[in-house]
Amino acid sequence: MTDHPNIVVLTGAGISAESGIATFRGPGGLWEGHRVEDVCTPEALARDPGLVHRFYDLRRAALAAVEPNPAHCALARLDAEWPGELLIVTQNVDDLHERAGATRMLHMHGELQSALCAACGAARPWAGELPPGTRCPDCGAPAMRPDIVFFGEMPYQMERIERALAMCDLFVSIGTSGAVYPAAGFVQTARHWGAATLEINLEPSQGSFLFEESRMGRASELVPVWVEAVLASQRRTSPRT
Ligand code: APR
Repeated sequence: MTDHPNIVVLTGAGISAESGIATFRGPGGLWEGHRVEDVCTPEALARDPGLVHRFYDLRRAALAAVEPNPAHCALARLDAEWPGELLIVTQNVDDLHERAGATRMLHMHGELQSALCAACGAARPWAGELPPGTRCPDCGAPAMRPDIVFFGEMPYQMERIERALAMCDLFVSIGTSGAVYPAAGFVQTARHWGAATLEINLEPSQGSFLFEESRMGRASELVPVWVEAVLASQRRTSPRT
């Protein structure tokens, strides 16, 4: 391990739950009243584009009513103060990590505030509604869709993520059920390359047994404590200047 351990953090819906954004696998297995496969697959988009577009329009509009919570803020502090490599990989499509101030991050499952042209592949920042048939500002095709990685589609920036996992000394998973691959397999990749592993979640996830350490509780409480400890350990080991 180097002087500044290299960290990868994976976040899921649990980190935004205390901001008021529903998790995917809540009571009844419904996401905001819908089965995930009815709003989060290419087949659903082809079958009922109106429903799928409206669903994400509502999720996008709902962002205006939520704020980052102490877990997002703690990760933004880690981002600002950590002298080593850090990559925050979020499965979330909300923008709460950015609004808290994080910059060393990526959205592997897309973003609510982005639209994607199904014809030319261009992605554009998007605010407001996105009706089916909206024309692409780049190629003109009436093919703009929510920039959300549906089941069966390839998550974004997998090469960069795999590289970061292979290089990291510590992998931390926060607020994710470990039900969806490839993210659920990141812990095994990180372990394969020798990283220490920590899970922070409200309850044991499906992959809890794969982590060296699991801390159960609310992200808003446990993440700030973890970040403070990591930064304090760094202060202890850094030479005085
Ligand atoms: N603090 C910590 N963990 C929490 C909290 C909290 N306050 N509230 C809920 N959790 C935990 C739940 O116990 C659960 O294990 O967060 C996890 C959320 O799991 P999911 O709803 O399955 O969300 P996630 O793992 O992000 O889903 C992965 O599935 O539908 C797809 O693409 C979608 O990105 C999503 C992916």
